[in-house]
Amino acid sequence: MNIIIKRLLLKGVFLKIRDGRLKKVMDDEAAEFTSSVKFDKNIFESDVKCNIAHTLMLKKEKIVDEKIADKILEALFKLMDEGYDALNFNHCDEDIHIAVENYVIKSTDAYIAGFMHTAKSRNDQVATDIRLSLRIKINEIQISILNFIKSLVELAIKHKHTIFVGYTHLQHGQPITFGHHLMAYAHSLKRDYERLKDSYKRVNLNPLGSGALATTTFPINRELTTKLLGFDSPLENSMDAVSSRDFIVETVSDLAILSSNLCKIAEELILWSSYEFGLIEIADEFSSTSSIMPQKKNPDVSELVRGKSSIITGELVTILMILKGIPYTYNRDLQEVNPHLWNVIENIEAILNVTSKMTLSIKFNKERAMELVYKNFATATDLADLMVKEKKIPFRIAHQIVGRIVNEVNSNNLNFNNIDSEFVDKIAIEITGDSLSLSNDLIKKALDPIENVKSRNVLGGPAPEMVELSAKNLQKFLEKEYKSKS
Ligand code: ARG
Repeated sequence: MNIIIKRLLLKGVFLKIRDGRLKKVMDDEAAEFTSSVKFDKNIFESDVKCNIAHTLMLKKEKIVDEKIADKILEALFKLMDEGYDALNFNHCDEDIHIAVENYVIKSTDAYIAGFMHTAKSRNDQVATDIRLSLRIKINEIQISILNFIKSLVELAIKHKHTIFVGYTHLQHGQPITFGHHLMAYAHSLKRDYERLKDSYKRVNLNPLGSGALATTTFPINRELTTKLLGFDSPLENSMDAVSSRDFIVETVSDLAILSSNLCKIAEELILWSSYEFGLIEIADEFSSTSSIMPQKKNPDVSELVRGKSSIITGELVTILMILKGIPYTYNRDLQEVNPHLWNVIENIEAILNVTSKMTLSIKFNKERAMELVYKNFATATDLADLMVKEKKIPFRIAHQIVGRIVNEVNSNNLNFNNIDSEFVDKIAIEITGDSLSLSNDLIKKALDPIENVKSRNVLGGPAPEMVELSAKNLQKFLEKEYKSKS
């Protein structure tokens, strides 16, 4: 080792990046204000991996002496083994990159560790680390989505004959099955999964080698670090690579959409478990009670899914606000995106897992569903359809006749059972001047919710065989996606 450098090292020079350019240590509050160590825990393993890949590349390309590189690698592997707690942070550590470098200095010496940062900047490093950590999280979230879809599909098959009311505007619309409703959840989650799959393509790209902003004069091998870190390809423009965070915006947007879909499920569980609906009971494990009203069984978990999903959308807006108007390339503002990203991840994981467990815990009240579906004219559309099919009258006229029938039934305190051919004709004549002479059997069949569901057997419909078909398709999709993850 060069004798002058050795002397400097003995004096402690080079141990801190500030010591060259700056004369004083940072003000305590300013250090705390600018430090990212609190949330850099999320990128700890990725940072060590990134350093390992970079050092292996420096060694292979003979940019750093083999023996020195080996010592650095030994220290990094030791750190990987010991874990995050082995880092001894102090307030001067601006971030995890400095803390890791300090660890390597302590495990080797400042001379050896000093080579570690050759041809690398914290700017390309942090961008690489975030991508490495995020892709793990995306994978985990995707697996949780697949698991949720799988259970929903199984439950849907079990409930393919379970009659249920379908709502629009939260008013009775048309009969469906509970299975069909569960499949609606499953399909929205499938798209959430696919959105993440698409974003992953843009997350899994390698910024390493971009340096601070303009790459390096060293003959680095970016293909090698790309391969070592399992990225699909290197990012092609160094300035874009260090300054872009749109892969975060995109992923967080996907997660905000996912959270809003989960929130809709949570909202339905709240409604359906109320006394007024009485359609389901949420398991005790996912319910709370009141400290004063002893009878209460409250859907607090669902309510918090609803509440916490707002955090995700809020964080998305915060991230967009941080990113807008930052000039190229790296600016420290970018650091401020990270805690919001990790907060989103933490919250969406919790929301997704609890919604999934809670939804699968519910007890469904078939009798109540049946009662509701018979009560409030949910089969009215089919009576109108019958008129069109049998008597070839325009749907608009049939719609008017049935609307009038409903009014008549309501104002005379009757129900749909009272509707027969005579009843229909009385109103049909009033509106069209002609009778329809529909058979009582056909009218009865049209007004029967079970028949209603059975005959909605077009693609995407609630007929049991269509729910079954859709479930099978989704199961094939799940099989393929699970395979791609293993
Ligand atoms: N903690 C920083 C971040 O998260 C690391 C990069 C620091 N780069 C710099 N030029 N100060 O963005």
